[in-house]
Parts: sequence; C-alpha cells; structure tokens
Amino acid sequence: MLGKMKSYYLTTAIDYANGSPHLGHAYEKVLADVISRTKLAMGKETRFVTGLDEHGQKVQQGAEKEGIEPQDRCDRIAQEFLDMLKGLNISHDDYIRTTEARHKKVVSTLLQDLFDRGEIYQAEYKGFYSMRAEQFLQEKDKVNGEWPEIFGEVTEITEKNYFFKLSKYQDWLVTFLEENQNFILPSHRQSQVMEFLKEPLNDLCISRPRERLSWGIPLPFDQEYVTYVWFDALVNYISAVNYGDETFTKYWPADLHVIGKDILAPPHAVYWPIMLKASNLEPPKQILAHGWWTSSGAKMSKSTGESVDPLELVDEYGADIFRFFVMREMKVGQDAEFSLERFESRYRADLGNDLGNLVSRLLHMCKNYFDSIVPEQQIEELPETKLREKWEESKKQSLMHFDEFQFSQGLEQVSEFIRAINKYADERLPWKLAKSSEDKDQKDLQTCISTMVEALRLANSLLVAVMPEIHAKINDRLSLEPTKLWETDLNWDNRLNGQQLKEKIILFPRK
Ligand code: MSP
Repeated sequence: MLGKMKSYYLTTAIDYANGSPHLGHAYEKVLADVISRTKLAMGKETRFVTGLDEHGQKVQQGAEKEGIEPQDRCDRIAQEFLDMLKGLNISHDDYIRTTEARHKKVVSTLLQDLFDRGEIYQAEYKGFYSMRAEQFLQEKDKVNGEWPEIFGEVTEITEKNYFFKLSKYQDWLVTFLEENQNFILPSHRQSQVMEFLKEPLNDLCISRPRERLSWGIPLPFDQEYVTYVWFDALVNYISAVNYGDETFTKYWPADLHVIGKDILAPPHAVYWPIMLKASNLEPPKQILAHGWWTSSGAKMSKSTGESVDPLELVDEYGADIFRFFVMREMKVGQDAEFSLERFESRYRADLGNDLGNLVSRLLHMCKNYFDSIVPEQQIEELPETKLREKWEESKKQSLMHFDEFQFSQGLEQVSEFIRAINKYADERLPWKLAKSSEDKDQKDLQTCISTMVEALRLANSLLVAVMPEIHAKINDRLSLEPTKLWETDLNWDNRLNGQQLKEKIILFPRK
C-alpha cells in the first residue's frame, strides 16, 4: 500500500502590519492561491498558509503616532488584510499572526534551544544603526561615502547584543545551493545569492534592547531584549504547522515559500536555511521570488503614495477579473508596470471578445438550433482534426507552464486555444449552415456545435485555478460541476453529447 502522501505545504510572505494592503500584497496572495489550486487540480493535498508580521519598530512607531496600543493597531490592519484575502477569493487554510501565543511559543523554544547549544552568544557591538531599516549598517552600505536616504537617520551606538552564528554555516549553505540548483526560482536569483555568498557572512544580531524597542518577543534567556523582527517573522513558517508536535512532520519541509525579490537575500535565502540547519531542521524545498508591480517605473509601496487599492478593482470588476489580470500580465519573476489601460484592455480583449463571446454565442446557437441539447459529432474533417490537435498542444504546453509557475505563459496558451475555437466557428460558419436544409450542412452544423461545446468545456477546465468563479459559472451553463481533477477532465471525449445546456450568459459586460 502506498504511504500517505505528504501535503504540498506552501506559504506566502507574511505582510507587515504597518500599512494598508496594496497591489503588491494582493498579487502575491493570488499567485500562491493559484499555485495551491493548481496543485489541487493536479491531485495533491495542499496546506496553504499566509499571515501577518506584527512586531518591530515601524509597528510600534505607527501606534505611538496614532496614540493607540500596537496590538490594537495590528488588529485593525489584520482585518484589512483579511478583507483583502476574502475579496480576492484566496483559499488559505490558516492565517498566522506573529502576536499569537502559538507563534511566540515556537520562537522562544527555537531561541532557547539555539542558545543552549551555543549557536547564539552575547557580545558587545559598536556600529552604525539605522532606525528606519532597524538594522546595523556596514561600510559597504554607503554610497559615495554617505548613508543612502533609504536608511533615514543613522547613529553610531555601542551595545551588548545577542548574535546568531550565521558565518559558521556559510560553507554549508554554498554547498547546499550548489547541490540544489532549483532551490530558488527563477534561476538567475539563485545565481545572485551565490554572488552574495562570495563575501564573508557576519553573524546576525538577533536582539534589540528593550529600552529601544519593546514591541517584540522577549528573548527567553534575557528579558532585557526582544527578538529581531526577521528572526521572529521567518519562524512563522514552522509555527503555523505546529512545530514541536507530531503534526509538524506531516507538513515540514515546506514545499514552497512564495515571496517578493526584495526579501530573498539575505532573509529567505540565507538567514532562514541557516536558522533551520542550526536547529536540525530541513530547509524548505523551494523558494519562488516574484518581481514587483511598479507604478511609473518605481516599486509600488505605501510610501510612494502611488499604490493601487486592489479591492477597488475587485469591487468594480470582480475577483476573477483581477486574478486573471495579475496572473496574465506579470511573468513570474519579472517586474510589471500597472496601468488601468492594460487592465481594461485585457478585460475587453482576452476576456470579453475571446472567452465571453464564445460562451454567449455558443449557448445561443445551441439553443436556437438544437433546443440546447448538445448534438453528436457526425463527421471528422480537417477543421475538427486541426482543433483537436491544437487542444492537445495547448493542454500540454499550459500544464507544463502551470507546473513551472509560469502562469502568464500558461494562460496565453489557453487564450490562444479559445481564439482557435472562435476561428473554427468562422471556418465552419454554423450560422450559415443553419439556414440550409442539405443533409451534409446539417451534419456539419451538428459537428460544429458539438465540437465547440467540447472545446469550450476543455478550455474552461484549465481556468479553474485562476478564475474559479467564472469557471464554475461556465460549467454551470454546461450542466457540469466545477473541475476537481485535471486528470479526469482534460480528455477530449465529447462527454456532453446529448446533454441539456442552460441559457446564455453575459460574463464580461461592457464597461
Ligand atoms: N513582513 C515582511 C515579510 C516577512 S516573511 C517571513 C515583508 N512584508 S511586506 O508587507 O513589506 O511585503 C510582503 C510581501 O509583499 C513581500 O513578499 C513583498 O515582496 C511583496 N510586495 C510588496 N510590495 C510589492 C510590489 N510593489 N510588488 C510585488 N510585491 C511586493 O516584507
């Protein structure tokens, strides 16, 4: 008997609780959700976790500015992020917040264990500290001899702190990366990390004196300090799956961490694998680093003021349209510029003209010519053969792209196939055939509608992960349940012959 399959455990970055959600946060959650739904359709069990990163200086300062408790501010922001996830139809299994007891407990356990085994030590440290970046800087951070603007005020301080022995594991990490060439996707990011590792690593300062920062998890072995926010936040990936109890082994190692390129090196590609190694835990299997949504060429962020509120687009167009747009527009790993014109044009062209028109005119013809009962295919000529071959190719290509997280390229294949269905209709001209009473024309007409219905069913099946609601609506018109497994739903088998379809529907109304 086969052993129980391990769940595919995937995570997103946990968002900072220091501002409202914007397009960048929304994109990442949609990307992870599409991966999760793709894995489900491929027959895997999944565990999908996202959450909120609530400690640190910025959160504390934000609350001080508002004159409220940090926890109250976090609670409010958590609600905004949860509303966003709901609006985007994200199917996460868990939402982890770093102020929860279950998380704090794991951080303490991990720290104590590392301390007991000598992986963490105390030392005096003199250095330049950036309040804004919440970190000590090094000479190499200077640009033309000055601290760059992004670090805000920089002051020289001397203090006792706790350090994690990062440098001890540098060679191990380099070997690990050499042996696991696909650890980081896209692959050019792995090369960047290797470059980064050519410089010697410093040990990591993992404490902040309480008098400077109180909003954090106290070090279990010295209550005068709180934990550095990255050392706290990264641990969410194991605290969310009950590190310390036996269910943990069902999920760990994580299969995939989905994150943005800005937090790859050093936090996810260096600190995290080493923290795990030092704790005798396996590293995650893969890290997917996506690019940035930009606005006028700059990273979209709270501070640029040019952020797009994803929920406004969702309110106007619906979650699936937003999901389709971000997945189709951004090639995973690259940056993409957001523009409303691009959004509207994808809505009009890819969705309205190609998919929407196909659905409405096909249902309309099926009703007019056959009382909505799907006819049998009567003949097989070049147009049918060509369309079937096109399907086989599109299916192969899109599944391959989906499997490699290349959703833009995968969706392009689906759109191309949808256009091929429309082209097939333009070749067969069913609206002309319907006017003829010739036997051959009637056979052609039955064949044409039957073929188009089957092709639509198949194309729509591939959309289940990206547009689950639109997918379900189309399948409902075809009197089908939503696709659960691609294995059973992607074969050209004319299963709808003789079935009663429903009335036509306008999926993408003109705006
Ligand atoms: N709290 C840390 C992550 C800790 S993970 C253990 C953090 N938070 S964040 O709110 O700043 O960013 C959360 C995620 O959103 C990151 O993966 C980040 O790359 C992503 N994005 C934030 N702005 C973005 C864009 N403009 N475009 C795409 N994603 C970007 O980092």
